[in-house]
Amino acid sequence: MESEKLILYPLVLTLVLFLLVGAGYHSPQPGVEAGEVSCLGPDTLSQKPGMELYLYACVACHGVTGRGVPQGQLGINTPVPDFTDCDFASREPDSDWIAVTHQGGPVRGFAKEMPAFGKALSEEELQKVMTHIRTFCGDDNWPRGELNLPRPLVTEKAYPEDEAVISTSIDMENEGLVMNEVVYEHRLGARNQLEVVVPFGFRQSTAGKWGGGQLGDMAVGIKRALYHNINSGSIFSVTGEVIIPTGDRLTGFGKGTTIFEPFFSFGQILPAGSFLQIQSGMELPMLREKAKEEAFWRGVVGTSLTQRQWGRTWSPMVEILGARELEVGAVNHWDIIPQVQVTLNKRQHIMMNVGVRIPVDDAGRDTQLMVYILWDWFDGGIFEGW
Ligand code: HEC
Repeated sequence: MESEKLILYPLVLTLVLFLLVGAGYHSPQPGVEAGEVSCLGPDTLSQKPGMELYLYACVACHGVTGRGVPQGQLGINTPVPDFTDCDFASREPDSDWIAVTHQGGPVRGFAKEMPAFGKALSEEELQKVMTHIRTFCGDDNWPRGELNLPRPLVTEKAYPEDEAVISTSIDMENEGLVMNEVVYEHRLGARNQLEVVVPFGFRQSTAGKWGGGQLGDMAVGIKRALYHNINSGSIFSVTGEVIIPTGDRLTGFGKGTTIFEPFFSFGQILPAGSFLQIQSGMELPMLREKAKEEAFWRGVVGTSLTQRQWGRTWSPMVEILGARELEVGAVNHWDIIPQVQVTLNKRQHIMMNVGVRIPVDDAGRDTQLMVYILWDWFDGGIFEGW
């Protein structure tokens, strides 16, 4: 009976995913090119207004092909970006590029040589220019930056990233325990990503003394985005992770066995800046006497709000975590994490998230304060763009 129930979780989740992807097709998101193309017809004329505006306002520096006029010819010190480079162009959402074009480079910590066009061109016209700029990278194998949704504290995103994250969780009730995690994510081509996780922690003894730092179980994973669609606003990835027993089992910093963790992640853009993300998978230990097999499912709903239209982005979200050991008579464990992510600098590539992880069932888990600092290192150095 119990194992039938377990099979139901992935099935129900898959069904929900298909319903959401299906629903997305009927409500294209504002700010993407699909809406415009369908209004104007499928022929090349549909590109014209955006292209004309581009030729009028941008071509002097960005060039007819979008590669950018060579630096020496412009008389400015800042190199012009190459819009034909999909690796760079695909990951920037239209909203960021419109902000830069409307307000000028400095609004996102770029050079003032990128002028402000807000007085000359309306946001609607700028959207058309973006539609033209999007034609420079002709390869839609690259998932668009709009699908790169705010990172929750626990649920793993579907978007392949170039990111470094340091996260800390602090037990707030019984014993003193501080766990940290350094996560390094490296994108490989259009759809793949390598991930390395190094956890380390500090524990307080019963006498109240804090011990030195201890290494936890490190992990290595590969993610692949199997499906992404900017028109439906959805992205779906699978990841295979191996957790290596580098931590000490006796002190509680390790499981003492290698664990395989396959999971899928799904992201869906919802109307009005909102989003939904789901992750579900299993932990399969090599030695079952050391660790139990476990299934987990996580979901998060949130929304992104921009301060004073072009400023800081705040993303309040609520995350729900479920887990259950894969054995007869095991019970489901539920945690809920209200949290807020906020961009710290103008470039918006350094972010912070703060939340409280509250156990819903009474299984002796502590309430935890959770924080991370994230650095999207592809977008610039830590000290750039403030
Ligand atoms: C006077 C030259 C000039 C003109 C005209 C110009 N740009 Fe730029 N643009 C630049 C430079 C230089 C940069 C690079 C800024 C940096 O990296 O600090 C830039 C950067 C950008 C970026 C930022 C890309 C990123 O790194 O995320 C966008 C988007 C952009 N331009 C769009 C436009 C659009 C659209 C137009 C026309 C409406 C336009 N630009 C007109 C010089 C120009």
